[in-house]
Amino acid sequence: MIGHSKLMATILILHGPNLNLLGTREPYLYGHDTLETLDAKIIALAKSLGHEGATFQSNAESTLIDHIHQSEADFIIFNPAAFTHTSVALRDALLAVNKPFVEVHLSNIYRRENFRQLSYFSDIALGTLTGLGIKGYFLAVRYAHYYLTKQEGASHYGSAQNSQAH
Ligand code: DQA
Repeated sequence: MIGHSKLMATILILHGPNLNLLGTREPYLYGHDTLETLDAKIIALAKSLGHEGATFQSNAESTLIDHIHQSEADFIIFNPAAFTHTSVALRDALLAVNKPFVEVHLSNIYRRENFRQLSYFSDIALGTLTGLGIKGYFLAVRYAHYYLTKQEGASHYGSAQNSQAH
């Protein structure tokens, strides 16, 4: 999607399984914000940058896949939660719709159990933010804004077309 430029875009924030329990779920790892509060903050930030923020959470792999297929969003911010480490089907859904996306994790998956250190998404994402808590989502929204409006800082590092880092 390099070359895409959109001043007012829709950014979809997609949350995987168990993230509906944010706030009470292992708060030492995932923080004290509820999903509702987090979504409201993300939507407000997207709006302040001139974009529409759409949020969706599901515990079901097939529901997340269907949502990816049907979404008309221009950019996806995705915390696949436990599906990060298991789901070829969700990976394939993102490849199928060919939309730019950033992977976000509240905790640093590379400082946790070995099984969390495999992500089926990191190599196909524009980038991954992991371990920065809810700020990871805010940084991802700001990156989406840079990317969609082609402002400075929106390089797709690691792509052949864009190998000149600046
Ligand atoms: C998570 C990390 C995953 O390993 C875990 O299964 C989650 C949340 C995170 O945001 O840190 O559910 O994606």
